[in-house]
Amino acid sequence: MKALLCMAYGPIDTLRLGDAPDPTAAPGEVVIAVRACGLNFPDALIVQGLYQTKPPLPFSPGAEFAGTILQTGAGVTAYKPGDAVIAFAGHGGLAERCAVDTRRVMPLPAGMSFEQGAAFMLTYGTAIHALQDVAQLQPGETLAVLGAGGGVGLAAVDIARAMGARVIAAASSKAKLQLAQAHGADVLLDYASGDLRQGLLALTDGQGADVVLDPVGGAYAEAALRATAWRGRYLVVGFAAGDIPRIPLNLALLKERQILGVYWGEAVQRNPKQHAGNVRQLLQGFTAGSLRPEITEQVTLDQAAQAIARLSRRETMGKIVVRIGRSGDAGA
Ligand SMILES: NC(=O)c1ccc[n+]([C@@H]2O[C@H](COP(=O)([O-])OP(=O)(O)OC[C@H]3O[C@@H](n4cnc5c(N)ncnc54)[C@H](OP(=O)(O)O)[C@@H]3O)[C@@H](O)[C@H]2O)c1
Repeated sequence: MKALLCMAYGPIDTLRLGDAPDPTAAPGEVVIAVRACGLNFPDALIVQGLYQTKPPLPFSPGAEFAGTILQTGAGVTAYKPGDAVIAFAGHGGLAERCAVDTRRVMPLPAGMSFEQGAAFMLTYGTAIHALQDVAQLQPGETLAVLGAGGGVGLAAVDIARAMGARVIAAASSKAKLQLAQAHGADVLLDYASGDLRQGLLALTDGQGADVVLDPVGGAYAEAALRATAWRGRYLVVGFAAGDIPRIPLNLALLKERQILGVYWGEAVQRNPKQHAGNVRQLLQGFTAGSLRPEITEQVTLDQAAQAIARLSRRETMGKIVVRIGRSGDAGA
């Protein structure tokens, strides 16, 4: 099969499109004919050896994807060949086929395309977990979303609006902010051209935001934390800017602020019941039209490495989806 291959941990431009053996389904697994793979920031990290998990080499990146089942392993009863599914395998989706443990698979909901299925669950799952389970965001509270034009950022804007919060979208360009506005952000803040802390304070009558969702980190983290309200909650979601911030803890003391970590993948494993409830809510929102992944680009497998590189350079918005499909495979 054709696959985007990481032969050694290193720069993204060392990824190569190549041939890999067709996978077979071990007990408890299914083989999926991949139709679409959504790109996420962790794809850029995992190939450089900078992510929490380090798959054995060689491997294909591609954490979430959608396709149809080709083969089922021993003991699999929930799925059959031809079923359309979404998978969160962590890696392996940037290939024509992928073997996945069924615990990381769910049916593709009715009315959702393969492309939407490949671009929905990781970012929306992270955002709903962060805002609902971790921050317990309340209707009428003010949420500031950093990196609001990115995958997790836009999902957070959608979900916070659905939860009845006032949303301040913060991002580095007019185009990213316009996208966040189209998803319902109430107020926009360009942190490339102005001071983030002062901007957030000005937009909250000097009180600060009740909750900050931060998938960016770097220098923005401390500025945003300093602009949270009394008992504000600051959600540590990711470090797309590269640097892991070091925060003076007096900032927590001074306003009884809470600094809260978010680790969606681990939370899904530890609390599958909560995750199932979140998935139900997300699908209701999708069906109602209030939650829609913003697919800004669709590319082919041979363009995927370049797309990951652009994502890592801050040059993309919303979600990029890689369209895959081997002629002869079900549905391709
Ligand atoms: N904790 C969890 O469970 C969890 C789950 C999923 C993802 N994440 C993390 O969340 C973060 C966002 O993921 P994503 O898929 O939404 O990424 P994304 O679509 O690329 O969005 C990241 C945003 O970060 C901002 N950014 C600032 N400096 C950047 C830089 N030097 N390079 C790249 N982006 C930069 C960009 O917005 P501006 O240009 O507007 O600043 C960009 O839109 C990543 O760190 C990812 O690892 C965490």
